[in-house]
Amino acid sequence: MKKKVHLGIFGLGTVGTGVVELLLKRKQMVGDCQVVLEKVAVRHKRKKRAVSLPSSLLTTSPEDILRDPKIDTVIEVMGGVNPAREIILEALRRRKNVVTANKALLARAGSEIFKEAMENDCYLGVRASNIASYRLIESLSFSPSRISKLVGVFNGTCNYILTEMERKEEDFSTVLGRAQKMGYTERDPSDDVDGYDTAHKLIVLLGLSLGYFPPLGSILVEGIRNISPLDVIFARELGYRIKLLAIAKIQGNDLEARVHPALLPRDRGLARLEGIENGIELRDEVGLEIGMQAPGAGKYPTATAILEDLICVARGRKLAFPSDKKKLSLRGMGGIETQYYLRLSALDEAGVLGKISCVLGEHGISIKSVLQKGRDEKKRKSVPLIMLTHEAREENLQKALKRMEKLPVVKEKPVLMRVEEGIF
Ligand code: NAP
Ligand code: HSE
Repeated sequence: MKKKVHLGIFGLGTVGTGVVELLLKRKQMVGDCQVVLEKVAVRHKRKKRAVSLPSSLLTTSPEDILRDPKIDTVIEVMGGVNPAREIILEALRRRKNVVTANKALLARAGSEIFKEAMENDCYLGVRASNIASYRLIESLSFSPSRISKLVGVFNGTCNYILTEMERKEEDFSTVLGRAQKMGYTERDPSDDVDGYDTAHKLIVLLGLSLGYFPPLGSILVEGIRNISPLDVIFARELGYRIKLLAIAKIQGNDLEARVHPALLPRDRGLARLEGIENGIELRDEVGLEIGMQAPGAGKYPTATAILEDLICVARGRKLAFPSDKKKLSLRGMGGIETQYYLRLSALDEAGVLGKISCVLGEHGISIKSVLQKGRDEKKRKSVPLIMLTHEAREENLQKALKRMEKLPVVKEKPVLMRVEEGIF
């Protein structure tokens, strides 16, 4: 059993600093394994760092790590697709174990990277790429059954923003600025708020469970940028909370995969997640259900997940990756069926509700409840009108929405969110 790891790290930002801090704090002992930190690659050698390291350990040349035969394990926490992809592939070709937190890269090049790791008999640790510091990856990679349904909250930044918007009634940009300062966001925070980080994580989990990494362009990705404090407040009044969800359902060879904000009943496990907490609910093909929850972003949760993978390396753990790589066909969004939340800005006059309900009725959409806020005594201004529908087909709802937008009594583009009441 191997107990010593000679380590090279690519990146000394939020996560890299967390890894080095934890290593130094533990005197480079992780569990029963001794870690020898050999080199750290950064972009700017002279940059002021939150952690102090001898300058001889820092390099701006990735080759110094890749070519060093002493280094048997590398951690990639530089982020981005290039040059991280080339660096990881080259490290694997040189038979170095790799631990990475880079879900953006894994979502795009997961098959290629796992293949290289297997061919070179290397360990590839990806725990930090999803629900940091939890053993989710482990249970997916080692499960004898395929998943049949998955619903998760995978982005700490978005969950933090939505929680703070509800709790403190702050606006979106104020809370996003704070999330950036706390080190929760990606280098480009639009990856978080526009849903792409959640989609990357969903693709990685599907890849680990099914051996098939669906292409990013083939799944619906909507973010939280356009959610207004009004929607957060109305959702609360109606007994829901808004969460950015990743959803996947597998039936035979059909895969439904989508990322979008949704209303969840307030008492549901995932609806109760606060701040940067992430969570997942899974059902496998034989009906077993599991749920997990853990902090999903930030320096220490992510660094802890990386150290867990280092322990696996030291203990000689082997990589597990599904071998039945069945290509699944992705279902289009038009065919999905769920309930919907609509917020319309409508004139407050007689007959308005009738006109709107009529459009919904013509598309076979049945209304579950209606809430109108405010009263315009002069009947010239519009007021928010909130409608919840029963289950309807997405394509019908989209057609109805286009018709509603053209009604003279509807004054702004309607807001639409899906309501996921009974996903399990
Ligand atoms: P970050 O703070 O932006 O740090 C990136 C680090 O990589 C910096 O130290 C930078 O060097 C270095 N770097 C960038 N390009 C490089 C290059 N070409 N050669 C050498 N070094 C280079 O990023 P982060 O937040 O730590 O995230 C790192 C990775 O972890 C990303 O893949 C991210 O998605 C993932 N992740 C982050 C979190 C989180 O909460 N932050 C959680 C889970 C996963 P300089 O310092 O010299 O500029
Ligand atoms: N930016 C990511 C998030 C980091 O907010 O969840 C963790 O993957």
